[in-house]
Amino acid sequence: MELSLLVTQAWDDYGLIDSGHGRKLERYGPYRFIRPEPQAMWTPASLDWQAHGEFVGGSEEDGGGRWNLDAKVPQSWPLSRGPLKFWAANTNFRHLAFFPDMAVHWDWMAGRLSQGKDVLNLFGYTGVGTLACAAAGANVTHVDASKKAMASAVENARLSGLGDRAVRWLVDDALKFMRREVRRGKRYDGIILDPPKYGRGPDGEIWELYRDLPELVALARSLLDANSSFLVLTVYAIRMSAVAIGELVAEVFAPLGGHIEVGEMAIAEEARGRLLPTAIFVRWTAAQA
Ligand SMILES: C[S@@+](CC[C@H](N)C(=O)[O-])C[C@H]1O[C@@H](n2cnc3c(N)ncnc32)[C@H](O)[C@@H]1O
Repeated sequence: MELSLLVTQAWDDYGLIDSGHGRKLERYGPYRFIRPEPQAMWTPASLDWQAHGEFVGGSEEDGGGRWNLDAKVPQSWPLSRGPLKFWAANTNFRHLAFFPDMAVHWDWMAGRLSQGKDVLNLFGYTGVGTLACAAAGANVTHVDASKKAMASAVENARLSGLGDRAVRWLVDDALKFMRREVRRGKRYDGIILDPPKYGRGPDGEIWELYRDLPELVALARSLLDANSSFLVLTVYAIRMSAVAIGELVAEVFAPLGGHIEVGEMAIAEEARGRLLPTAIFVRWTAAQA
């Protein structure tokens, strides 16, 4: 199995400016923030970082910590990337309400979609992946357990000027929803899976990555066929190898044929182009895609 590396480059409204000494400096529109980044073990390009806020304390594994912010940083502010418009905010979970490293997948999916294709986005969060597919003409079913995340996703779609027609918004448990779709004989052209390590469905259903990923992948396989366009699976914040999720998808998707790509995702630093790893991924495409 060969591993590939998908690198997100800076765009007008986002950049990883510099990284090192266990921290990273990023720009989100007009604001710059410092966040902990244990994997940035090297020396930063500059030792004099100017920022509008910093996330301090806590740990990536156990959560916690808080933002120290300048008074001028608003509660939320709009960002864009091409046709996509979405709100950034300093969340309690140390991120900015979207994940910039997913931009490589937004572009890749948009390039594989056309008017009227059906896409399922599970664990869709604030929905930038959903917007990327809808902007490419797809009908998207967006599923997330959190009403709050769903409200942000709907607001992002409105900001992007995407009418309600393009997206079906569902607050539901990912596995329960997929089991129901399989029973109904549904079929999709593309599926996005971005599961957290641990999560809860709206009725307290427990999501546990190691235990539940095999069923999630099997259900995704049942909702796709050899004429579908793609599966994108990303995994982050967990000690799991790209090879492991690659082998799982290769086994389950073998009957569909097609092509599987496996590897790591990273963001390129603006200062020197140093690559900061963020997540692992598997992508499946049908033979004719
Ligand atoms: C951090 S997000 C994924 C990132 C997102 N796909 C993106 O790129 O912006 C994980 C999401 O999974 C949702 N979630 C957790 N457990 C779930 C479950 N059992 N069913 C559905 N969604 C769940 C959470 O509400 C959260 O929005």
